Order: sequence, then C-alpha cells, then structure tokens
Amino acid sequence: MNKTPFHLHGKTIFISGASSGIGRQIAISVSQMGGRVVITGRNQDRLDETFKSLSGSGHLTVLGDLTDANQRDNIIKQLPQLDGVVMNAGMVQAYPIKFMTLEKIKETFSINYDAVVLLIAGITRNKKLNKGASVVFISSISSNFPPKGGSMYSSAKAAIESFSKVLALEHYTQKIRSNCILPGMVKTALYEDVEKVITKESLDAHIAKYPLGIGYPEDIANTAIFLLSDASRWITGTNLIIDGGCILNA
Ligand SMILES: NC(=O)c1ccc[n+]([C@@H]2O[C@H](COP(=O)([O-])OP(=O)(O)OC[C@H]3O[C@@H](n4cnc5c(N)ncnc54)[C@H](OP(=O)(O)O)[C@@H]3O)[C@@H](O)[C@H]2O)c1
Repeated sequence: MNKTPFHLHGKTIFISGASSGIGRQIAISVSQMGGRVVITGRNQDRLDETFKSLSGSGHLTVLGDLTDANQRDNIIKQLPQLDGVVMNAGMVQAYPIKFMTLEKIKETFSINYDAVVLLIAGITRNKKLNKGASVVFISSISSNFPPKGGSMYSSAKAAIESFSKVLALEHYTQKIRSNCILPGMVKTALYEDVEKVITKESLDAHIAKYPLGIGYPEDIANTAIFLLSDASRWITGTNLIIDGGCILNA
C-alpha cells in the first residue's frame, strides 16, 4: 500500500467532463493514484475511450447533459457515496459586449455556472458526499484576468469561485473541503476552439506571456490529485493558480 498522503486508494471520485481534455486526464491520473472514478460526459464514444484508459477496477460511467434537469437528476441518482468531486465540464464562448444577448448569457452560464451549482446542490441534498470529502472546481485565470470577449465566461468562473467558498463554509463541520483550480492556457480541444476564434498574432502574443510555456492536462490533473488527497487536508476555500507564470506578465 502506498503510504504517501497524496494517494487516493479507498476514495471514490466523481469527475464531470471526463470525455475530453482536462477531465479525461484527471480521471486517468486519479485511477493511477489508486482512486475509483465515476466519470460523466455527453459523448458515449469519447467517455468509453476514457474508461478504457483507466487503471484499476470498479470504475463507472454515467452519460448525460448536465444542462438538462432530468439528465442531471438521473446522474445524481446513479452516483455512489463520494470522497471527491471534480466539477470540470465547461465551455468557452467569446462575444464582444456590444453583441451580448440574454440567450448568449444563458448559454454560457448554463454549463459553466448553473449546471455546476445545481449538480453540487443535488449531490449534497442527497447526502452523496462522505465526511472528509474534497470538492474541486476547475475555474480559469480568466476570472481574475479576463480577456476581451470573455465577459460571460470569466464572470461565470468568478461566480463559481465565490460559490466554492460558500460551499466550504456550509460543509466544514463534516470536514468537507472545497477549492478551485485556476488554469492558464492548457492544450485541449477547448484550446483548439480558442485558436479558431482569435487571430494567429493574438494567439502568439498570448503564448509569449507564459514563462514556462502553455500547460498540458497532466499539469492540472496533478494539482487535482493533491486537492483530492489527504495531503491537502488543511486547505479549503482557496483558489490555486496553475499557469506557468502567465500572471507574472499580466
Ligand atoms: N483548456 C484550457 O485552456 C482551459 C483553461 C482554463 C480553464 N479551463 C476549464 O477546464 C475545463 C475543461 O476544459 P477542457 O479544455 O478540458 O475542455 P474540453 O476538452 O472541451 O472538454 C469539455 C468537457 O466538458 C463536457 N461538457 C461540455 N458541455 C457539457 C454539458 N452540457 N453536459 C455535460 N458535459 C459537458 C464535455 O463533454 P462531451 O465532450 O462529452 O460533450 C467534455 O468532456 C472547463 O471548465 C474549462 O473552462 C480550460
């Protein structure tokens, strides 16, 4: 048995958005550290691909769109007792403020804020979190350093960071902890979407701001493991920036 406090043996961890990018890597890394994972996403094939990459046994997949109330409730019903939750599913959308509409606000907030809050509310209401559980939200440095066009995405992430602190306050008596990871730019499909909507010059200028280069899903997964493990037992209500030094140049 691994004696390091960073291990996840005996822990069951739910990970949203595990069919792609950062969430997929978190699921793989958690399983490599001994954790049992419950993974969710919308795309069956991609979720199955993640499932096949997991180490160990006993893992579960639960398919569903987190913005749909019935599907979300169905996911919550299928969850076993949890020692950790990683709220990772999200989507980037960029609009200049002058083109904002109520529809666009709702679209960005429905997955990046509403679904996250309602999923956690359902999980806590149904007493699915064990004593000492750790909740990790994948936010973004754009909550503090928003780019042009990022008003809704950055606002939704900033709102999640406040929500995480209240969760930490409301559940500390059960030693349940809640923290946010704020990644800088990480190479995933979402990054490729950003590549499509900004010019090469702006992208190059942005990449040049990263003293340690842009990040990889493993960098975020290793941080999530720390926050899910007992090694971080005294950390709650905080925001951890993982950005290769980008904000030094902000
Ligand atoms: N990549 C970056 O540079 C970066 C930087 C800072 C923060 N982040 C944050 O990191 C998280 C993951 O980003 P990523 O880059 O790994 O993105 P990604 O590769 O596009 O993956 C997004 C994941 O979210 C899931 N998802 C999206 N909408 C959903 C919905 N309505 N219901 C259920 N699942 C849904 C997707 O599921 P399906 O594929 O099955 O639809 C997918 O598994 C996001 O919260 C993002 O804001 C990313």
